[in-house]
Amino acid sequence: MRMVDIIAKKRNNEELTKEEIEFFIKDYMSEKIPDYQVSALMMAIYYQGMTSSETAILTQAMVESGDQIDLSSIKGHKVDKHSTGGVGDKTTFIVAPLVAAAGIPVAKMSGRGLGHTGGTIDKLEAIPGFRVELTNDEFLSTVNEHKLAVVGQTGNLAPADKKLYALRDVTATVDSIPLIASSIMSKKIASGADSIVLDVKTGSGAFMKTLEDSKALAHEMVSIGNNLGRNTVAVISDMNQPLGYEIGNANEIKEAVEVLQGKKVNDLRTLGLELSAHMTILAGIYSTYEEAIKALEELIDNGSALEAFKGFIKAQGGDISVIDDLSKLPQANFEIEVKAKSTGFVHEIDAESVGVAAMYLGAGRATKDDQINHSVGITLTKKIGDKVEDGEVIAILHADKEDVTDVVDKMLQAYTIEDKQAVPNKMIYEVIR
Ligand code: URA
Repeated sequence: MRMVDIIAKKRNNEELTKEEIEFFIKDYMSEKIPDYQVSALMMAIYYQGMTSSETAILTQAMVESGDQIDLSSIKGHKVDKHSTGGVGDKTTFIVAPLVAAAGIPVAKMSGRGLGHTGGTIDKLEAIPGFRVELTNDEFLSTVNEHKLAVVGQTGNLAPADKKLYALRDVTATVDSIPLIASSIMSKKIASGADSIVLDVKTGSGAFMKTLEDSKALAHEMVSIGNNLGRNTVAVISDMNQPLGYEIGNANEIKEAVEVLQGKKVNDLRTLGLELSAHMTILAGIYSTYEEAIKALEELIDNGSALEAFKGFIKAQGGDISVIDDLSKLPQANFEIEVKAKSTGFVHEIDAESVGVAAMYLGAGRATKDDQINHSVGITLTKKIGDKVEDGEVIAILHADKEDVTDVVDKMLQAYTIEDKQAVPNKMIYEVIR
């Protein structure tokens, strides 16, 4: 088999066979095929696309390029949740303990943040003592005992994806739906869950800016999951403004705990319940959506979800006294108010700009080697649809330095305030099975 023939075949919009896809991944990994030929193939795929069958085969080949996590010693049906990334997205801290309280084992591997979106692992490290690195045995026994563990991704999950992604990044071929879908799903499939719920964000702060693209990505990922024997459901959710009111690390943990304590942070609670409902239905715990939502609300109201959160934080070395007294979480030295420059209604809050503003404060990384400051972040005090008076506080910056004029400017740019009343976006656009 010759790589040049595979490139020509895809360039001519013909379907690649299983043997051809497996050959190119295997020989690329063993460096028998050079970057320039794989770049040409990525560009051919970018223009010609891939069939569902090709995409599933590519995903499986990437899964087989590295470790596959064996969760078989964990009792019960394992369900994973994955978000395509957003600003203020702390749903994992609500969904994971909530479904664990419903009886589903959650063995979660999460990433660190880069750029305008934060990472689950970074946020958890805001809790003093919390260990994100567990041995394999500790990971499995924590899930068996507490129904929940969250650890950092191991280095060798889908290495072919890592290599291909680095190449796509410098050859303008990231934005291809089959390539994005296979990239995300290869890591999820290798992580070993039986079923997967995907939170596909759509809007200004999301990877996919339009509903049409988000739906296409969701369909492709659901098709891959189902083709590879994992029941998969995708929820398309709004990311036209940050999720909830808090953006950062310690403050996002605080907001998630408040939801677990029963606080009704509308968008966040709605999304947390929605994702949890699909996870519990996939696991066979509840049979209808209505039954699931009602039961999950009860698990919040009776404190079970909060207990599940505390149990796993303690099991991973975290100080749970900070959960009982949230003021013990890392606190920044200064609170700086961002004040509106006009009167009207909030029409837009550009989530990406808010994410970048939080990164400027030190809550996120501009480069892989940057250190996170867990105490800094942003609290929004106004969201889409809210009335604002000239000079009224629209956001509070939690900063470790007094002069944050650049961040204040960024926040003012993020807000669009207009005269007429605005209608907030709906939170859930569609569920794709
Ligand atoms: N995230 C991924 O993991 N892969 C992509 O290709 C794009 C976003």
